[in-house]
Amino acid sequence: MYQLRINDLTTDQFLSNYWQKKPLLIKGGFQNFVDPIEPEELAGLAMEETIESRLITNHNDDWQAYHGPFEDFSRLTDTNSTLLVQAVDHWHPDAAQLIEPFRFIPNWRIDDLMISYSTPGGGVGPHLDQYDVFIIQGQGKRHWRVGMPDPSLKQFAQNKSLLQVEQFEALIDAVLEPGDILYIPPGCPHEGYAVENALNYSVGFRAPDQKDLISNFADYLIDHELGNKRYSDPNLFKPDSVGLISEDEIDTVQKLMKDLLEDRSTFKHWFGTMISQPKHDMDLAPLDEPLHCEELVEYLASAETVVRAGGVRSVYQITPEQILLSINGETYRLPLTSLAGVKLLTDENSFTVSQIKNALNCVEFMKTFTKLISEGTYYLQEGDEFE
Ligand code: SIN
Ligand code: CO
Repeated sequence: MYQLRINDLTTDQFLSNYWQKKPLLIKGGFQNFVDPIEPEELAGLAMEETIESRLITNHNDDWQAYHGPFEDFSRLTDTNSTLLVQAVDHWHPDAAQLIEPFRFIPNWRIDDLMISYSTPGGGVGPHLDQYDVFIIQGQGKRHWRVGMPDPSLKQFAQNKSLLQVEQFEALIDAVLEPGDILYIPPGCPHEGYAVENALNYSVGFRAPDQKDLISNFADYLIDHELGNKRYSDPNLFKPDSVGLISEDEIDTVQKLMKDLLEDRSTFKHWFGTMISQPKHDMDLAPLDEPLHCEELVEYLASAETVVRAGGVRSVYQITPEQILLSINGETYRLPLTSLAGVKLLTDENSFTVSQIKNALNCVEFMKTFTKLISEGTYYLQEGDEFE
């Protein structure tokens, strides 16, 4: 397990002083850092069709971007090149462990673990990201510069898949060594170039914008055949101007839409379903034969630990009547009495079979857990501790 130390700050101090406010260099954030993956393994992942990867080169200031899967790595030259692989936490359990120290941030805000390997001089150039990120330095060294958000900075496309930003003033200018971490809030310009062959791990976050939310909510309404109430005007009287849409009419239309958004129970069910949807493919190993509920207890007796598969997104919400447990885009309605079990599935990355035993007294919870085990979302592992 990786132990995070945020300089001499508590997590509360970090959250109130830095999170979404200003970048921070965390020197020795992970002491005696050991890389969970080798560059060769990363390259292996970049050869897979289902895994999103990119290669960026910047020889003599000529920026080029190539998209995986890659059949060979001839473009990953001794200098000025970077290989980036998205959502490695879905595929590599040891690498997925790097997300765990950051789980003082709610599950639903966490996106994925991106890993890059860069050769001296290599990087993706100066750019802005829309999301918070912790960039962990693995093996090698990389020179990073990070600035504060500046709306006057112009962005431009180096080529059609590489958006960069013009030169910026740096607040942090440092060479990162293994175990050092950079926290970068959204919109802060940054650039990092390898000094030696370097592995970097980016724990990224997600934050939906209004148009994503509205369009996804609209899709949900269509899928669930909701939102069919139509505009009506039984008290209509002859207007002075038939060309005018009146303020009252606009109020009525806005109310029609707001009523839908203010239906808290629909809203929560939609939000949990939407936000728990993974953006990348999963690497789940379903059981050969789905389990029946009656077989669950016996099946669980075969091991001591239950592990949540890498990249699984699990969150819950509490309503006056029930718990909405959302896992990978599916929402289960469970009784309020199953809270302890739901917390194991969402707050913990792994737990012991004996910890979940009590929760299985609730039939609805047991059915849900049986399904999750059958589809490989959670799996059994020998030993009582996940290493
Ligand atoms: C990288 O690791 O090269 C990219 C990280 C970033 O700047 O977002
Ligand atoms: Co970035």
